[in-house]
Amino acid sequence: MRTLAVCILLLVSGVAVVTFTWIPGTGSVLAENARAAQEQQDWPAYGGAPENSHYSRLAQINRSNVRQLAVAWSFDTEEEGGLQTSPVIVEGILYGLTPTQKVFALNAATGKLLWKFDSEIPGRQVNRGLAYWSDSKGKEKRILAGVMNFVYALDAATGKPVPSFGRDGRIDLRENLGREPATAQSIALTSPGIVYKDLIIVSGRNPETLPAPPGDIRAYDVRTGQLRWSFHTIPHPGEVGYDTWPRDAWKTSGAANNWAGFALDPKRGIVYVPTGSAAFDFYGADRIGDDLFANCLIALNADTGERIWHFQGVRHDLWDRDFPSPPALVTVKRDGKDVDAVAQTTKQGFVYLFDRANGKPLFPVQYQKYPPSTVPGEIAASEQPLPTIPAPFARQRLTEDLLTNRTPEAHQWALENFRRFRSEGQFVPLSVRRDTVIFPGFDGGAEWGGPAADPETGIIYVNANDIAWTGALAANTGDDSPMAIYMSQCSVCHGENRTGSPPALPSLVGMESRLTPAQIATTIRHGKGRMPGFPNLADDQMFALIGFLTTGESKEMASSEPPPPAMKYRFTGYRRFLDPEGYPAVVPPWGTLNAINLNTGAYVWKIPLGEYPELAAKGQKKTGTENYGGPIVTAGGLLFIGATNFDKKFRAFDKATGELLWESSLPFAGNATPATYEVNGRQFVVIAAGGGKDPKSKSGGVYVAFALPEDSSHDAHRRAVPK
Ligand code: HEC
Repeated sequence: MRTLAVCILLLVSGVAVVTFTWIPGTGSVLAENARAAQEQQDWPAYGGAPENSHYSRLAQINRSNVRQLAVAWSFDTEEEGGLQTSPVIVEGILYGLTPTQKVFALNAATGKLLWKFDSEIPGRQVNRGLAYWSDSKGKEKRILAGVMNFVYALDAATGKPVPSFGRDGRIDLRENLGREPATAQSIALTSPGIVYKDLIIVSGRNPETLPAPPGDIRAYDVRTGQLRWSFHTIPHPGEVGYDTWPRDAWKTSGAANNWAGFALDPKRGIVYVPTGSAAFDFYGADRIGDDLFANCLIALNADTGERIWHFQGVRHDLWDRDFPSPPALVTVKRDGKDVDAVAQTTKQGFVYLFDRANGKPLFPVQYQKYPPSTVPGEIAASEQPLPTIPAPFARQRLTEDLLTNRTPEAHQWALENFRRFRSEGQFVPLSVRRDTVIFPGFDGGAEWGGPAADPETGIIYVNANDIAWTGALAANTGDDSPMAIYMSQCSVCHGENRTGSPPALPSLVGMESRLTPAQIATTIRHGKGRMPGFPNLADDQMFALIGFLTTGESKEMASSEPPPPAMKYRFTGYRRFLDPEGYPAVVPPWGTLNAINLNTGAYVWKIPLGEYPELAAKGQKKTGTENYGGPIVTAGGLLFIGATNFDKKFRAFDKATGELLWESSLPFAGNATPATYEVNGRQFVVIAAGGGKDPKSKSGGVYVAFALPEDSSHDAHRRAVPK
C-alpha cells in the first residue's frame, strides 16, 4: 500500500526524488527506508521480531570468524536471583531487567548504564523480557514492562513512567478479570506482551491450584492503558467452547493462561497464543470436559480479539502439559509452493505445524486412544492428538533399558525404584499413591526459551530437556485446618512433608531459622521465583499457616473466611527421577539440541547439549543436561545458545551441521535466550547470565555482550560513522 501511494505521488508531481509525502501516518520515504534498515540491525521484540523466530539477518559474525569472538562488555546488575531475560535492542540502546525487576537502558555498544527504573515493588517473579513501541513517526517511544501484576509504560528515553498510561503510568492485570476482589487475584506478567499497532497484548502467569483467575488474553491501548479487547480462555455462556466445561466453570475455574508469550503476523493482523492447562493441574473433577481453550494454540484477530482458529494439543489436561514455548512463524514449502506456517513445540517433544491462515495441520495429526482414569470423580479424555511427523525430539516412554548405567549402584537403585512406578508413556492418567513416570518431565521437552526458525532454510532449532519426573495423587482431608490448606495449596510444590524437591522447589523444613514470620508471609502473599502469590488467604489463615510451617501445629481456625477450595485429591510432588548422587536416573542424553527441516519433517542433526563439569572431568562428556532458555539463528550461518544449567557455557554451532565452532564460559549459567544486533557497524551477541538452577552454584545477574575484536580484518567492511 505504502509503495503504491508513493508511486502515484511520483507520477503526479513528476519529481525524481521524493523526500517527503503528505500521506497521513506514513512518514517520509527516507525515514521509512532508514527504519527498515535499522530494524535489520535491531532486536526490537522478544524473540527478535513479532514472528518470534529468533532470527537475525546480521552476518558480520560468521562461520569463518566466530572463533575470534570475545567479551566486548558486561553489565553486572549487582543483584542475585537469576535472570531469564532476553533484552530488546533498538537504535543502539539495550533495554533489560534486573533479577528484582528493575528496568534499565544501556548503551548497547559499551554497556554503559543510561537509566534505571525502580517501581519500588520488590519484583519477585521471573521476567523474560519487555516490549518496545514507537509511534509511526518514531517520535514517541515506550518500553512496556511487567512488574508482578502491573504493566508499566516507560518513556524509552528517560525510563520515567508515562503518566497518561493507565493510572500514573501503569495498569493492574488483576482488574477486569471478572473476579472480585481484584486485589485477591494472583497474576504476574512473566513473559512480555507483544505490540501490534497501538496495542499491547498480554496474558500472564496464574496459579496451578485453585483459586486462580482465568487466563484471559487482553489487549490494552499503548497510549492510554485502556482495555481494548479481552478473549476469554474459559468461555462465558454463549461463547464457543462454553459446552466443553461444566456450566459455571467460567466463574470458578482458573488459568488456561498464556505464560510463554506470543507470535504475531503483522501483515495478516493475527496473534498466535499458546495456552497452558486449567487449574488445578492434576485433578479435574470440577472441570469435566475438553476444557477449551486450555492447552490450545489460538489464532486471534489482533485488532479485535476474535478467534480465527484454534488447535487443542491436550484435551482435559491432567499432566500440566502446557504449551510451554512461544510459537515461531516460518514459511515452508509444500508441493513446490510457499506456505506461511506457525510452529508450536511442546513439553512432550512434539512439533506441531499449521497453515498460519486457517490452522490446517501441515503434518498429519492422529487421534490416539488412552486408558480411563481410575481416580474417583475424574473423567480423562479418551483420545489425544499426536503429530505423526516430525518424530518427537525427546524420549516419551521410559523402559528398563533406558535406566542409568552411570555406576552399577546407580543402575540398581534406579531399577528398584522404577519397578514401583507406572510407566506406560504419554497421557496415562495419574494414580492415587502410586507414582507415574512423566517422560520427558514436567519441564519438557521444550520449555519457555522457545525455538529458532531459519527463514533461509525452513529449519527449526529446538533445545530440549530429556529426563524423567514422577508424580502421583493423594486424597485431601478436606477440613479447613492449616495442614489441610498446606496440603491443598502448597504440597504440590513443597511436598507432603515439606522437603520440596531442591533446588528448584526448596524444602521448608527449618526455614524458621533463616526467615522471620514477616518474611515468610511476604513470600506467601506475593510469591517468589516460580512460586505464585497467594493473596486470597485471609490474615488469620496466613497466621495459622505460618504457625503450622514453623511449629508443625495445625489447630482448627475460627476463621470468618471460607478456606481456599480444596480438591478431593492433591498432587504429591514434581519429583525429578534422579539417582542418589543427583544425576538423572535415565541414560543420556539428558538435554539435546535438534535441527528439524519443516519442509520435510526430517532431522538435519541432533546433538547432546551441556555437560556436568565434574562428570566431564572424569571422562563422561557430552551427556547433555537440563537446559532453559532458547537459541537464536543468524544469516552468518550460526546458532547461538547458552541455556545449559551446569557448565555455564555460551556456544555457537554451525547451523547446517551442528558442529561446535566456539564456546565461552559465563559468570553464571546463561538460562536465557540471547539476542544479536549491530551498532555503528559492529555486531554484538548478548546473553543474560544468572544461573540459580544448579545447587552447587550461586545465582547472580550479569549481561555479557560478545563481538569480534575491534582491530580484526572485518574493520574494513565497517561503515564510516560520523561522530
Ligand atoms: C508452583 C509451585 C509452588 C507452590 C504451589 C508454592 N510454592 Fe512456595 N516456593 C516455590 C519456589 C519455586 C520457591 C523458591 C523461590 C525462589 O527463591 O526463587 C518457594 C519458596 C517458598 C518459601 C521461601 C523459602 C525459603 O527458604 O526462602 C516459602 C516460605 C514458601 N515457598 C511457602 C509456600 C507456601 C506456604 C505455599 C502454599 C500457600 C507455597 N509456598 C506454595 C514454589 C511453590
